[in-house]
Amino acid sequence: MSGLVMPPSTQSGAGAGSGPDSGPGGDQMIVAEGVSKSFGSVHALDSVSVSARRGTVLALLGHNGAGKTTLVNILTTSLPLSSGRARVAGYDVTREPFEIRRRIGLTGQFASVDTQLSGRDNLVLIARLLGAGRRAARSRADDLLELFELTTVADRRASGYSGGLRRRLDLAVSLVGGPRVIFLDEPTTGLDPSSRLKLWEIVEGLVQQGATVLLTTQYLEEADRLADSITVLSAGKVVASGTADELKATVGRRTVTLTLDGDDAPARAGAALRGAGFAPVGGEDGTRSLVVPIDTTREIADVIRTLDQASVEATELTFGEPTLDDVYLTLAEQHARTPA
Ligand SMILES: Nc1ncnc2c1ncn2[C@@H]1O[C@H](COP(=O)(O)OP(=O)(O)O)[C@@H](O)[C@H]1O
Ligand SMILES: [Mg+2]
Repeated sequence: MSGLVMPPSTQSGAGAGSGPDSGPGGDQMIVAEGVSKSFGSVHALDSVSVSARRGTVLALLGHNGAGKTTLVNILTTSLPLSSGRARVAGYDVTREPFEIRRRIGLTGQFASVDTQLSGRDNLVLIARLLGAGRRAARSRADDLLELFELTTVADRRASGYSGGLRRRLDLAVSLVGGPRVIFLDEPTTGLDPSSRLKLWEIVEGLVQQGATVLLTTQYLEEADRLADSITVLSAGKVVASGTADELKATVGRRTVTLTLDGDDAPARAGAALRGAGFAPVGGEDGTRSLVVPIDTTREIADVIRTLDQASVEATELTFGEPTLDDVYLTLAEQHARTPA
């Protein structure tokens, strides 16, 4: 699907070679420096800095109320900042909001689809509003319907779409103008696993074609899968940032949980695992499960081999990745150990 992130041919002015976003030094597509935002006495953002280079995905990870949507609203110029500076596609959010709006796509949890219209008509309408001729608008709609696997429901009213279809249409609508920078505010919250996977694949495709994506999420797994860099927000503050691996290394709570059968199995498994250098937890007081912290997925095999050598049978074995809660807990513990 070529040309997805390029503007339709009828749209002029935003093509290659014009504006700071295509200049040689303009590799940073999203930059926030010390951005703060207060709503009365609520400090929604407190000196937040983030950045994303062209063709990368930045994930803002945080629980409800962390300040994710507030930052997205500031970067998409729908909310003024209280202090700090921010640039998107090379333009300043305060001084050049219209330059930014022409270059971004925004999908929120409550996006701007007209549910009384069909999916196709929504797309055609937006393309026409952006200045495409009738034929170009229809062909743009066809391309997006195909890419988002919406062709079979294209002529049904959007009010009848499932959550997953609706979210895909929202995203398709936000891409009509060929934005270079795409903001996705909790794009998969509330979606079933297969719809979530489909959206992830779509986002990966957009990035391959050169788009820059900022997405907000409450799921560490989602940030892990999609993001080149992750910024963790908590109560309006950046509490950690780095790659997914860097974050997980600070968390270090990958685990294998074993459920064991037989009265002495937990004790024997515990002893064998300790002998092999692991530090299993549990198995005392008649409990039948052991939690074994590991660093790499390779160590799962070592755990299994150790059990096998000790002739212990596990009835269940599950692998656990660190969750956002683990990240928060670990960061909170680190703060407690090293008071500022
Ligand atoms: N328009 C507003 N008026 C007052 N408080 C707000 C407004 N928007 C957001 N807040 C507050 O700012 C904080 C951050 O909210 P938000 O950015 O929506 O977080 P998130 O998107 O991470 O859930 C919350 O405490 C929220 O209640
Ligand atoms: Mg939000």
